[in-house]
Amino acid sequence: MTVESVKPVKPVAPEAPEPIEPPLAGGTVPLLGHGWKLVRDPLAFMSQLRDHGDVVRLKLGPKTVYAVTTPALTGAVALSPDYHVAGPLWESLEDLLGKEGVATANGALHRRQRRTIQPAFRLDAIPAYGPIMEEEAHALTERWKPGETVDCTSESFRIAVRVAARCLLRGHYMDEAADRLCGALATLFRGMYRRMVVPLGPLYKLPLPANREFNRALADFHLLVDEIVAERRASGQKPDDLLTALLEAKDDNGDPIGEQEIHDQVVDILTAGSETIGSTIMWLLHVLAEHPEHAEKVRAEVESVTGGDRPVAFDDVRKLSYTNNVLVEAMRLRPAIWVLTRRAVADTELGGYRIPAGADIIYSPYAIQRDHRSYSENLGFDPDRWLPERSKDVPKYAMRPFSVGNRKCPSDHFSMAMLSLVIAALSAKYRFEQVAGSKDTPRVGITLRPDNLLVKPLPW
Ligand code: HEM
Repeated sequence: MTVESVKPVKPVAPEAPEPIEPPLAGGTVPLLGHGWKLVRDPLAFMSQLRDHGDVVRLKLGPKTVYAVTTPALTGAVALSPDYHVAGPLWESLEDLLGKEGVATANGALHRRQRRTIQPAFRLDAIPAYGPIMEEEAHALTERWKPGETVDCTSESFRIAVRVAARCLLRGHYMDEAADRLCGALATLFRGMYRRMVVPLGPLYKLPLPANREFNRALADFHLLVDEIVAERRASGQKPDDLLTALLEAKDDNGDPIGEQEIHDQVVDILTAGSETIGSTIMWLLHVLAEHPEHAEKVRAEVESVTGGDRPVAFDDVRKLSYTNNVLVEAMRLRPAIWVLTRRAVADTELGGYRIPAGADIIYSPYAIQRDHRSYSENLGFDPDRWLPERSKDVPKYAMRPFSVGNRKCPSDHFSMAMLSLVIAALSAKYRFEQVAGSKDTPRVGITLRPDNLLVKPLPW
């Protein structure tokens, strides 16, 4: 026996199979492909795609889009550097968001911008916002009168904008500006979605009333943002807030960042922070109205924490575990961000499938979070599924309403604290009923919200 013969044989790694092309989802129609289904009933369409494969090709007119359907692979997309924020959703938002803000930037610029905004959203920064969140939540309960109809769309949107604007861009002028912002943003979100699903570019330039209203709101919104920045500068004040962080931010050469970038950053924070929170509050009101048994449990939990003789406070929120589980379950079934898109920046592989550079990727947190393969009684409203002993069975990435990875929402702690406080304050004072004319079917837009939810608050 020679020495060579006893040398360990280097194991040969089994060759990874060549990635294959994802299957084409069924149900294409000549010329339109899957487009008409996606427009007609996007939630149902996205929800059945997993039956066709873990990654499936969709034909949208002449274009091929890759839909990712399993929790694990959506996590892989969100965590991989091979996918950037780009694609039709983002392009349609650029008129509103600009091109230099954190929501649309990629690469080194995005990393630097995240470093600037992140401190304002850190867990230990949130208690400083507590007094404003409390004030706004209780003001809402005073503003709403027992038995009087509440237009949930405008009211939810209003508190969302006010809290984001007052907490993150602090200033006395903010009270009046927050109301103007609400008006402009409501018109813009309506128009943006229309432009996204019916991309008839030149049509939106015609001097029609709807276009004029949209353009006025767009101009007013950008003007307001400029005023907010200018007034802060003129005040000479530097409170410890997000706006100060933006005004003092430096680029990679150590130079102050440009005016356009400051502007676009403020725009991104206000837009990202308003529709999402507003839509979630609407769904929470819907839950309280449709599930009185859960509303009563939330009320009882708040009372047990406050003793029933004082308003619920920011510091109480972390003790409200049932309330929090109601919130999470509402976000599972009705996620504000129901669809996300990315673009592959290199030829890559996903779950054994070939994804070419330049491909548009789409996936739906709505579909993922309602999938019977991840949740028993998947369509039932069950806050107790978030008890620690049960939630451990939820597959990884099957519940990520704030996403994961480098684009994860910076505002997860901020949002959860605010939403819990709002639902606690409302439930402590009122129960809710939907009223005639209310339309609670989901309205698919840039976010998912009830079409036209009208409720009346009633004393317990
Ligand atoms: C990004 C969800 C509230 C600011 C995101 C993303 C999700 C999300 C899923 C990732 C988008 C992607 O991967 O493409 C939510 C939900 C909210 C909420 C469900 C409330 C219920 C807020 C608030 C703010 C905010 C209140 C600010 C005040 C942002 C920003 C980004 C973002 C700036 C872009 C981050 C980046 O691209 O690096 N949000 N969000 N969000 N969110 Fe939120």
